[in-house]
Amino acid sequence: MPNDMQNDKKGAKRRELIKAAGAAGLLAAGGGLTNLSLAQSAKVKVGLMLPYTGTFAQLGVAIANGFKLAISEQGKTLAGREVEYVTLDDESDPPKGADRANQLVTRDKVDLLVGTVHSGVQMGIVKIVRESGVLHIIPNAGVEAATGQLCAPNIFRSSFANGQPAYPMGKVVADRGLKNVVTLAWRYGAGEESVAGFKDSFLKGGGKIVKELWLPFPNVEFQSLLTEIASLKPDAVFVFFAGGGAAKFLTDWKAAGLKGRIPLFGTGFLTEGVLEAVGDAAEGIETTLHYGDGIDTPKNRAFRLAYAKAFKLQPDVYAVQGYDAGLLFAAGMKAVKGDISKKKEIIAAMRAATIDSPRGKVTMSKSQNPIQDMYLRKVVGQENRVTGVAMKALDYPPSGTCKMPA
Ligand code: PHB
Repeated sequence: MPNDMQNDKKGAKRRELIKAAGAAGLLAAGGGLTNLSLAQSAKVKVGLMLPYTGTFAQLGVAIANGFKLAISEQGKTLAGREVEYVTLDDESDPPKGADRANQLVTRDKVDLLVGTVHSGVQMGIVKIVRESGVLHIIPNAGVEAATGQLCAPNIFRSSFANGQPAYPMGKVVADRGLKNVVTLAWRYGAGEESVAGFKDSFLKGGGKIVKELWLPFPNVEFQSLLTEIASLKPDAVFVFFAGGGAAKFLTDWKAAGLKGRIPLFGTGFLTEGVLEAVGDAAEGIETTLHYGDGIDTPKNRAFRLAYAKAFKLQPDVYAVQGYDAGLLFAAGMKAVKGDISKKKEIIAAMRAATIDSPRGKVTMSKSQNPIQDMYLRKVVGQENRVTGVAMKALDYPPSGTCKMPA
């Protein structure tokens, strides 16, 4: 009999034994089986609270795919423990954040809560994980408070803080001598903090903001704003949009005749996961981000191949962030040999981990947000091509606002 089948049989027998022992109250009496053996044979429960509908649906799916790929590459178990997923759609709807997170923690009793994409929903999750102490990895949402004023030992981020990918772009635009800039973004945490990050370096570089334009999330009625931009005639425009909204924006920008007339810049979310949908509307657009399709390393090449094979889709930054959330958790589980009850040790190992990410090596800052290189990229055909490193090992915003509780 092959080894894994023998192990399966042994595992099944062991699980039956534990069930029987538990029912007979033997565990409480300390008879034979210890709590440790119970803890190590049960499955690890991972909650994937993500948007599976709405403008960020594709982002949620990519994150879930990436996470699962990382776990399956560990040999499908974490230090010997199988992983069970509980999936919950948060619809990118902020009022649903706290309730849905609470459902995963109290009803489903997840060991790890992975989520989410939208900064507003994220604030609800942060409240619940701070109260409950449940281990938490943010695989996208950049809201700065999560690893700033509200930082906590059980909160990690495998993605970015909102200002982090935007800050290098301000310097790029200023260095090109483009002085008068209009910004345009969704008016909520991610849009506001992206524009703030851009302005931080752009103003230092001598630039001037002509006008800040906003629209509510997830509104995509861009027409009147594009008309206003055309009449303002700025040297350049900086935007924050993502997912379905980014695809619509790029199409409308071209249709309004602004493409090629006014230089357009953004954080790289603008051109992630949308290139097939928008055709040549994105061609030539430059952005800054912590990932680029063509990063020429064995790790990125292997990741892209494995992802494409498993899901019949091309990976993007969201898939990478999900994948790295899986690698980060795996590092914690390895350190305790699968004993999820050793939370302090898991956290210590995750804090100290160096993740071998498709984006390059990533470490955690004191506030448990990634310290990472920011790439300058340009859309060439169907690729977000890396054209340089805009900033090396960027820790932004500085970890100063996080006073990590012991
Ligand atoms: C956010 O809401 O924090 C957010 C959403 C989508 C992105 C980036 C940030 O691509």
